[in-house]
Amino acid sequence: MSTYLSGIQPTGLQHLGNYFGAIKQHIDGHQEEGEHFYFIADYHALTTSRDPEKLRNQVQETAVTYLALGLDPERATLFRQTDVPEVTEIAWLLACVTGMGLLERAHSFKDKLAHGIKPNVGLFTYPLLMAADIIAYDANYVPVGKDQVQHVEMTQDMVGYFNNAFGEVFVRPEHLLADQASFAKVVGIDGDKMSKSYGNDIWIFETGKKLKKLFGKVKTDSRPPEEPKDPAEILPVRFLELFLGADELKDWERRLQEGGEGAPGYGELKMRAWEAMEEYFAPARARREELLANPDRIEEILRAGASRARERAQATRDRALVACGLR
Ligand code: ADP
Ligand code: TRP
Repeated sequence: MSTYLSGIQPTGLQHLGNYFGAIKQHIDGHQEEGEHFYFIADYHALTTSRDPEKLRNQVQETAVTYLALGLDPERATLFRQTDVPEVTEIAWLLACVTGMGLLERAHSFKDKLAHGIKPNVGLFTYPLLMAADIIAYDANYVPVGKDQVQHVEMTQDMVGYFNNAFGEVFVRPEHLLADQASFAKVVGIDGDKMSKSYGNDIWIFETGKKLKKLFGKVKTDSRPPEEPKDPAEILPVRFLELFLGADELKDWERRLQEGGEGAPGYGELKMRAWEAMEEYFAPARARREELLANPDRIEEILRAGASRARERAQATRDRALVACGLR
């Protein structure tokens, strides 16, 4: 039986890019046979967070988001990273067999340096903790976005260093890339990659007037509706693609290509995208409201998840301690 694991940074409200690029894979994936672990990487968040109240809220919001979108806590173990302190112990064991050079080569770290960010030690050793997250549960597969692939490869290296020194203790993981290549990059309302840091994002649970207004802002040009157009160049169509079935989508595309009297104006496309998104996430919005009204239930799910996860992490840590002579 295979074990799947992924971590989610509790950074702010999750947007459509996060959903179609990552969360959806996690949620669809946990229907598959095997064991599934999903955790909120709150220790990792502390490498940059300095606002305790905000971090607390974001951790809860992340849990609610996953549960509302359909993660079944009976099929997948959902927990907080900090509820499994064994990962920090395993991270230390890895630190003792890993050369600084490996960490210095991490793209995400070099990126931060290039942006003039003065790194703390936690940011530098981020990949050690991430490797420990993966190793602790003997994960075989790690579903991640492209940006995280190098971290999984570094995990493979660290498993190699430890196992070469002390025997076959840790399981070597593989990354799993999101399989919906077409949504590998969801665009924002300005046409760039959707990202919290670009301020062009749409929150998954946005609704009503605010959502309508956001779709109103989706960038378009000033060509008249009658002019035939290539649907691939029309930004509102990028949003319709996310929410519509194939038949309806084809129909809009055909009308755009043909132009003339029957062609939709940009306003019409935007309003259809708005409506379609409202509908798409309506059940999840309702579940989110239910969960928020019952915070004890959320805590209960996270605690139950942590207790299952911890059992596994303790076994892995104990195995490693014996192997390297610390027991
Ligand atoms: P942001 O750029 O908003 O800070 P993150 O870097 O926190 O988003 O991304 C979290 C996850 O969501 C990653 O797995 C990433 O691959 C995915 N993701 C983020 N933005 C997009 C996007 N525009 N399209 C597809 N996937 C995305
Ligand atoms: N670094 C990942 C991200 O930023 C989050 C993460 C932490 C993770 N630990 C992990 C992902 C272990 C997969 C496995 O998205």
